[in-house]
Amino acid sequence: MEKNMLFSQVKGLVHGGDYNPDQWLDRPDILAEDIRLMKKAGINSATLGVFSWSAYEPEEGEFHFEWLEEMIENLYQNGIYTVLSTPSGARPAWLDAAYPEAMRVDNRGLRNHHGVRHNHCMSSPKYREKAGIIDRKLAERFGSHPGVIMYHISNELGGECYCPLCVKRFQEYLAEKYDHDIEKLNRAWWTSFWSHHYNRFEQIEPPFQNGETSVMGLNMEWKRFTTWNMNDFMKHEINTLRSVTPDIPVTTNFMRLFDGLDYRKMALELDAVSWDNYPFFHNDWETLADTLADTAFQHTVMRGYKREKPFMVMESAPGLVNWHKYNKLKRPGVHKLACLQAIACGSDTVQYFQWRKGRGSYEQYHGAVVDHIGTDDTRVFREVAEVGEAMKKLAPVAGTLVKTRAAMLFDWDNRMAIRDARALSDETKQYEDTCIGIWKQFLKLGVEMDIIGSDEDLSRYDLVVAPMLYMLQKGAAENLKRFVERGGQLLATYFTGYVDTEQLCFLGGFPGDGLSELFGIVSEEIDTYYPSDRNHIRLEDGSLWEVVDYAEVLRVKDAKVLAEYTEDYYADTAALTCKEYGRGKAYYMAARVKPKEMMPLFEKMLADAQIPVKKLPEGVELHVRTGEEGAYAFYLNGSPETVEIADVEGVDMLTGAGIQGTLTLPGYGVAVLALAKQ
Ligand code: GLA
Ligand code: ZN
Repeated sequence: MEKNMLFSQVKGLVHGGDYNPDQWLDRPDILAEDIRLMKKAGINSATLGVFSWSAYEPEEGEFHFEWLEEMIENLYQNGIYTVLSTPSGARPAWLDAAYPEAMRVDNRGLRNHHGVRHNHCMSSPKYREKAGIIDRKLAERFGSHPGVIMYHISNELGGECYCPLCVKRFQEYLAEKYDHDIEKLNRAWWTSFWSHHYNRFEQIEPPFQNGETSVMGLNMEWKRFTTWNMNDFMKHEINTLRSVTPDIPVTTNFMRLFDGLDYRKMALELDAVSWDNYPFFHNDWETLADTLADTAFQHTVMRGYKREKPFMVMESAPGLVNWHKYNKLKRPGVHKLACLQAIACGSDTVQYFQWRKGRGSYEQYHGAVVDHIGTDDTRVFREVAEVGEAMKKLAPVAGTLVKTRAAMLFDWDNRMAIRDARALSDETKQYEDTCIGIWKQFLKLGVEMDIIGSDEDLSRYDLVVAPMLYMLQKGAAENLKRFVERGGQLLATYFTGYVDTEQLCFLGGFPGDGLSELFGIVSEEIDTYYPSDRNHIRLEDGSLWEVVDYAEVLRVKDAKVLAEYTEDYYADTAALTCKEYGRGKAYYMAARVKPKEMMPLFEKMLADAQIPVKKLPEGVELHVRTGEEGAYAFYLNGSPETVEIADVEGVDMLTGAGIQGTLTLPGYGVAVLALAKQ
């Protein structure tokens, strides 16, 4: 058996989703039908209780778990495991009425009224106490049930609270961080500017909307504090559960590139990473293949939080969603493609929101495996059942990992710092899109690129791309130097190494902290273009790449100039450089060009890193998962056209056919090939 299995009980992949029987307790006929339909759809897990607090505890101190007990047991008897949620994502009315401190305060200082969800105060001792009581009861009552394979903490944790309790905690957090020395904080936050000097930690307010928002250090620390405090709240729940049942793994569901919390820090507290995947399928701004490639990036970000294990897709829509601007239907075949893409990228689960559509309220029209019609002869049900079948066949993939020698550095603090910097243009900074754009080019070459933090160990990689690494984490510069020194291929771009973790600019030339020595250049100025401005850079072979948005003017120290600008006062000065450093090479790309144009550079770097490339037809993705017992290649056709892929060999796990030579995939088709053991 693979050592990296997420669950000891489930032998293969997990196919399941959010199940809300508490909405149907007066309809035993429907609950019975659910079990029959789940089996028919190949479902082997159900996530229970995500928002069930008022069903668990309808009045303070009055607990009702009978329905849950019956449900978990019944599911288990039918081969369906339970992912058991803590209900802290939404509060019953009695709780807010009795303990208003549980309700969050917004960035104008206004306390929320009771309602909706996801809006509790993370500091409130009362809320922690109440959540702790219910969590303990759940663990005590259900933790030993063989059907319970995992705890799901709360739901999509996020948001900020500006209540007096949180403000006080923030001040304490700052005092701790700055060694109770207010002058240390003043120096770090450069508060001599605009007379913003603080005398005492108690004077510091969070960045209220109508308050202090001009101190970058404060804004960043508030973000970091919010992660810290959310983590602290989450750990309170986790510790409560673990104190009763230490062996049941815990997760919480993340949201794509949500930037309100530093997920990398939260993942450290979890046994497995899971996320909710809701792509904008068939939108009017990109091809489906592009939407899928973007989703592959998101999967890879999640995979990067815990690379030694598969991750989970905790939620995805079986049909449409109800909260996009336009809630378009997923076209036939795309469901299977998207589900198997998740597996291809390293997930061991495909779980849905939601199993059955409710009759009323906010999500009554959100896609579900079972629609209001209630039958199993719908297109969506059939497509889900087809995925269920496929996932059974793919059981050997469970526990295998995606392994690669290429990585992209992508940092949360850096995202925040770039967004907050009063520089460049807010319209075109586009840090995330820049990373995604470059990452997609490597995908086109059949190269998986891990997405990791800039201070993480790079020793397993031979190629690293670090777009717009504006903020340098402590030790990041040294890390990069070591990487290149021992033979790595590194690419950095404009807007690299301007500030340290306090967002104080490095003196003596960018990129700072010793990186200008690594790249052999200093960036003297950065030009921000208006949207219609253009420049070009000319490469040694005469080809021209178009420059948009940003161009840095470089002083070259001891790097080789590979391309120069063609226009403006900096025409004929360096735009792309390379310095050989130790056994590797450090490239610096001073201007923004379309990632597609940089393909020759990426190919050269890959060749130097001896990373094999497989050129794929337009719209096709290749992902490989590897384990002790074999490797599995996923070919996904995101285009509506039939494609042919040459030089392929293996056994198609979905059809059983042996493939040697050309693999033909219909539009939106997918094949998973078990590769011969090397
Ligand atoms: C989120 C939530 C779910 C549900 C879905 C709808 O992911 O976690 O409870 O609201 O969105 O898409
Ligand atoms: Zn609060």
